[in-house]
Amino acid sequence: MADPLQFMREGLAALEAMGLDLDCPVVSSATDAHMVVNGKRVLNLASNNYLGLANHPELKDAAKRAIDRWGAGAGAVRYVAGTQDLHLELERRLAQFKGTEAAMFAQTGVVANLSALVALAGSEDVIFSDRLNHASIIDGAQLSRARVVVYEHCDVLDLQARIREHLPGHRRGLIVTDGVFSMDGDIAPLDQLHQVAVDHGLLLMVDDAHGDGVLGHGRGIAHHFGLQGRIDVEVGTLSKAFGVIGGVIAGKRLVVDYIRAGGRASQYSTGTTPADTAACLAALDLLERSTALVDRLWDNTRYFRNGMRALGFQLGNTETPILPVLLGEADLAKRLARRLFEEGVFAVAQAFPLVPRGQARIRLIVSAVHERRDLDFALSVFAAVGRELGVIGAGS
Ligand SMILES: Cc1ncc(COP(=O)(O)O)c(C=O)c1O
Repeated sequence: MADPLQFMREGLAALEAMGLDLDCPVVSSATDAHMVVNGKRVLNLASNNYLGLANHPELKDAAKRAIDRWGAGAGAVRYVAGTQDLHLELERRLAQFKGTEAAMFAQTGVVANLSALVALAGSEDVIFSDRLNHASIIDGAQLSRARVVVYEHCDVLDLQARIREHLPGHRRGLIVTDGVFSMDGDIAPLDQLHQVAVDHGLLLMVDDAHGDGVLGHGRGIAHHFGLQGRIDVEVGTLSKAFGVIGGVIAGKRLVVDYIRAGGRASQYSTGTTPADTAACLAALDLLERSTALVDRLWDNTRYFRNGMRALGFQLGNTETPILPVLLGEADLAKRLARRLFEEGVFAVAQAFPLVPRGQARIRLIVSAVHERRDLDFALSVFAAVGRELGVIGAGS
């Protein structure tokens, strides 16, 4: 009798043989500038905790107070009995913060992308998607059953050519792009994409997961380009700079209502816990009160990026706190990450399928809670280990 589990053994063994098995580091402290990873205290350059809010006292207090008042869980999906007044307050505040008519709070950024794409497109439609978009956009586009046309990364001319070729014969079209690309740190040309969408009568959706709390003085990519309130669909996440968890879909009230009604992933999943929702509100309070953390994030980014480039590391076209140290082969990226860890710096190697084959890298993320001495320490470790492995020249 054939073993029905055999294909799983073979599949996992094949991934392991290619070095693609998931080997998750285990964190046993709060997420912060320093943390305990696999039992060792290290400098953390791997989290998306841009502003250091994941362990911020105001967020933790808000979460504790919310548990006392609203309990541990929402108890039902949003449209049955799981919409708490806290959720509505957060949605109102998120819309205000982003300068849009309305906002919807989803369970995660992934759920927000799946919900928006499934609601907005169907089998008669075409989605134009940047080649380097996040996995949840790729999955959401497939789930929508629309025709998916991939255009070259941030290439507006290629996008226009593909629209001219593929839009005819479809009911509607949608352009979708990451705002900040998570593996490269470059920024989508949202002003040009907006113009293309207007010229061709298409919807425009941007996933601002890495721009929320970072770009536009913290208010996101639409503010960065002076387009607040003018992008059809602004998806975001509260799990990165906001330091908690949750997704957001912001835009005109009509658009948000339509996605709320048709976004199955979000509809059929239980509402976010009171603790998380209240912590997100506390993060918004902080960001509205002052841009000090955002300013510090950018100071640290400039300092560390200049230091790494001066040492001779290749960082590609990054324009944000995401700094990809480009290495090429997965094996080299993994060896470098291992040596950095041994020297007290936690940074993760990213290889295929997260990035194209042959473009392995170590992705560094600077945060507002790194001290100058942390960044200087990281630079000295990178200098020593980079020379040892021949990534930078001996004279660097
Ligand atoms: C571009 C992008 N979109 C969406 C997500 C998913 O966000 P969340 O963790 O809130 O599901 C991520 C997170 O890795 C991301 O990088």
